[in-house]
Amino acid sequence: MKIIRHKSELRDLTISWHRAGDTIGVVLTMGALHDGHLSLVKNAQSRADRVIVTIFVNPRQFNNPEDLAKYPKTEDSDAHILESLDIDVLYVPEPGEIYPACFSTTISVSGVSDGLCGSDRPGHFDGVATVVTKLLLQTDADYTFFGEKDFQQLQVVRRVVADLDLKTEIVACPTVREDDGLAMSSRNLRLGTEAREVSPVIGRVLESAANVIGRGGNVAQALETACQALLVAGFDEVDYFELRSDPDLQLLMSADRPGRLFVAAWLNGVRLIDNTPVKAASHAPIEAGRIPEPV
Ligand code: PAF
Repeated sequence: MKIIRHKSELRDLTISWHRAGDTIGVVLTMGALHDGHLSLVKNAQSRADRVIVTIFVNPRQFNNPEDLAKYPKTEDSDAHILESLDIDVLYVPEPGEIYPACFSTTISVSGVSDGLCGSDRPGHFDGVATVVTKLLLQTDADYTFFGEKDFQQLQVVRRVVADLDLKTEIVACPTVREDDGLAMSSRNLRLGTEAREVSPVIGRVLESAANVIGRGGNVAQALETACQALLVAGFDEVDYFELRSDPDLQLLMSADRPGRLFVAAWLNGVRLIDNTPVKAASHAPIEAGRIPEPV
């Protein structure tokens, strides 16, 4: 595995790989690698001839400077893990390779960026869209692999790639969970023992609300019950618990089409997010006063 820090060196390599007919799979990360990242890497290895993993802690996607300062920086151990997986390149760009002096372009995606984490973290998805575009271009990616845990991010990146005619194919990979069901995230490390024990409740509450809604239960009631269950379990605050359409992420008040349930909640100073699919309810709730058509 080669560690590369400059885009010119990376460019020489990717040109030579493409000339030789090899495809390039890219996994974008901010480091602090866990099994969720590793499953993306394995996916990339099964699909592409060459695999690049990037590590860049992107300041432009942190709306809170404290969160950026606390973000774990573990390049040496990350490099060690990736070495054992036998990838081709670890690209760790110097900050100036991504944001040179006078950098003044922002990629901003409307629609799917609105609401959910877009409301609670202003500017976050502009930062993500901008850095992802740069990294996909710098790595000349044929494929890139994104986890469904960050489902809104995945939809934002899909829009960028489609709207800007990038050649990269996006491969969505299922959320990887701990044995107790907690979605893997670099932030889980900051929970502490007690909060870590409480944390899997978020996944259980999410699944149970999705079941109720999928069976035609009242959406507003199911969401209210779910929020209360999180607070009772010990979560400090719920940022959102919402049903949205898939793939355009419109807010839904009833499960009249396939959707996804999204949650973000705070536990011991850590913001956890998760999501799960919800099938269109088998019997859409009957509107008040409307008499169903005879079958
Ligand atoms: O999901 C992440 O780790 C980041 O948002 C990404 C895609 C690497 C962009 O910085």
